[in-house]
Amino acid sequence: MLVSATEMLKKAKAGHYAVGQFNINNLEWTKSILQTAQELNSPVILGVSEGAGKYMTGFKTVAAMVEAMIDEMGITVPVALHLDHGTYEGCYKCIKAGFSSIMFDGSHYPIEENVEKTRELVKVAHAMGLSIEAEVGAIGGEEDGVVGMGECADPDECKAIADLGIDFLAAGIGNIHGKYPANWKGLSFETLAAIQEKTGEMPLVLHGGTGIPADMIRKAIDLGVAKINVNTECQLSFAAATRKYIEEGKDEQGKGYDPRKLLAPGAAAIKETVKEKMELFGSVGKA
Ligand code: 13P
Repeated sequence: MLVSATEMLKKAKAGHYAVGQFNINNLEWTKSILQTAQELNSPVILGVSEGAGKYMTGFKTVAAMVEAMIDEMGITVPVALHLDHGTYEGCYKCIKAGFSSIMFDGSHYPIEENVEKTRELVKVAHAMGLSIEAEVGAIGGEEDGVVGMGECADPDECKAIADLGIDFLAAGIGNIHGKYPANWKGLSFETLAAIQEKTGEMPLVLHGGTGIPADMIRKAIDLGVAKINVNTECQLSFAAATRKYIEEGKDEQGKGYDPRKLLAPGAAAIKETVKEKMELFGSVGKA
């Protein structure tokens, strides 16, 4: 059964570890992530961007697939199905489709409008038993057409949004989606500490988990981060393993072209990446 992410993140914040949000793109992604979470007895959040939702033919398909997989695969660890960087309309679609958690990304609106829209969605999400994440201070880089400049959030604005009763908060601290450029200055721990001081118990979310060095991840968790989003890193490991299979000519040996064989190395690579992240985030054995 799907659960909201509220309890798992409260427990993570209190226990000084973080739960990974791994974005899904298709059946192989979803299956690999669920298998790894179950094997490691870790809670997990499946992230779905609006682009990935569209690719999978819509949020209803995604919710039905995830619900059915949890049942058929006998998954017993807590799993949340979460809309990633949702628009206002996208949030309503996911609530209707059966997601257990949503993110409303109003970071590109003026703060007053972000507050008003978030306030409304908090009421609706909570009435339906879903958890809700909000964002202040755009995350840098580009993800599925959503482009951000990578600002550091204003701690007072973070408090204004946190006070609306959201369940967890994404605040920009110099993090970027996708690969980090060579001249990246690193996370702003000053900003993170100031946000944590203003928002207290609120679990904080670190987007752009791909490529952040392990020591920075550990420090961010120490300073109140309880959810870390990873997307690109699974895509890179999937692509590298698939390329290797084809370059070695394995698709031309016997029935190596069978999609179940062709996609197997990529799926195994995703499992390995998810395992590494769960170990680093400290969520292993915390289900
Ligand atoms: P990466 O693609 O950089 O891992 O970021 C993922 C993310 O933050 C999803 O919202």
